[in-house]
Amino acid sequence: MERTLMLIKPDAVSRHLIGEILSIVEREGFRIVDLKMEKISKNKAKLFYSVHKDKDFFIHLVNYMTSGKSVGVILEREDAVHHLREVVGDTDPEKAKEKTIRHLYGETYRRNSVHASDSKESYAYESRVFFKETK
Ligand code: CMP
Repeated sequence: MERTLMLIKPDAVSRHLIGEILSIVEREGFRIVDLKMEKISKNKAKLFYSVHKDKDFFIHLVNYMTSGKSVGVILEREDAVHHLREVVGDTDPEKAKEKTIRHLYGETYRRNSVHASDSKESYAYESRVFFKETK
């Protein structure tokens, strides 16, 4: 069975949306395999999003992702990577389809409530970075 990673970002955690978001993914047939809440360090945020390190929004992304706690969730289901991205919706909450998590809860491009791995390879990398105990 395929696995993927969802991160519930600081904007959603601070608005008490952890339960709502977990309910949505459970209703979609995902099994929660592992889960961890953490205020991530700058180093971890930079490593997690290293694919974006040369983008002009990188520093803002890192500052935002370290502004409060996030919840990392490993989810299992058939076609998990693709299906979670459907459930999460477009990066821009204004473009996200109705009933997707970002349409329901996202505020802005940056404060878009959740992250979902975009491939099996990203899942392997991102879950290793997020669940590693070291700073
Ligand atoms: P996420 O799916 O977590 O992956 C990288 C994040 O960078 C993305 O969601 C957005 O929140 C953020 N991001 C991507 N592009 C931009 C942009 N042009 N301006 C601000 N934030 C961005």
